[in-house]
Amino acid sequence: MSGTESAGVRDRARWGLAAAGVLGLAVAAMLGAYAMVHPGNGAPVPHFGFASLVAMKTWLSTAAAAFVVVQVISALAMWGRLPGVSGAPAWAGPVHRWSGVIAFVLTLPVAFACVWALGFSDSSARTVAHSIAGCLFYGVFAAKMLALRLPGLSGWTLPVLGSLLTTVLAVVWFTSAFWAIALSGLSLR
Ligand code: HEM
Repeated sequence: MSGTESAGVRDRARWGLAAAGVLGLAVAAMLGAYAMVHPGNGAPVPHFGFASLVAMKTWLSTAAAAFVVVQVISALAMWGRLPGVSGAPAWAGPVHRWSGVIAFVLTLPVAFACVWALGFSDSSARTVAHSIAGCLFYGVFAAKMLALRLPGLSGWTLPVLGSLLTTVLAVVWFTSAFWAIALSGLSLR
């Protein structure tokens, strides 16, 4: 590829990344706006066999957080940064992709229950942080999925977006599931 062609690919990648960022912010803002205007009111939501809605939300989001740990380990392996693992092992890519899919799917019924039955809460700093991080999670996820498909991005882009997504989910989990477990203990059913 000539110098002019590769500069063109880099330029397109930068514009693509900016568009992915704008779209991600739009996803987060629309979710937040919907959560604010929707009355919530504790509308009934399926428990999927769990004894209570809180138990369903707590355990599904804890399972999602566990899969995100797998995401971090497999990402380190893909980038040759996992101690004791040399190069980029063949398992790292598929493990990273599927643990991400499972973590994302596990968050969906939980976030639906949050937005549909509770809405955006400003009753404490914790619930504000949780509501904002919950919306940002889907925005950053959308931006990362789009960025994955952009050829010519700088090498730092995906690790930064992946770290941001992990951090946002950690905030979501600590401000909700961790709280519920701390209040009720691991006996939460
Ligand atoms: C990744 C997405 C999300 C996950 C995994 C998640 C997880 C949870 C969990 C486990 C709880 C504790 C159970 C409960 O009190 O019902 C909770 C509570 C809550 N969630 Fe979410 N949530 C997410 C997104 C959202 C969003 C987008 C909003 C609103 C904009 C939201 C608003 C709330 C509120 C208001 C509570 C009650 C907090 C309290 O009073 O303690 N959540 N969430």
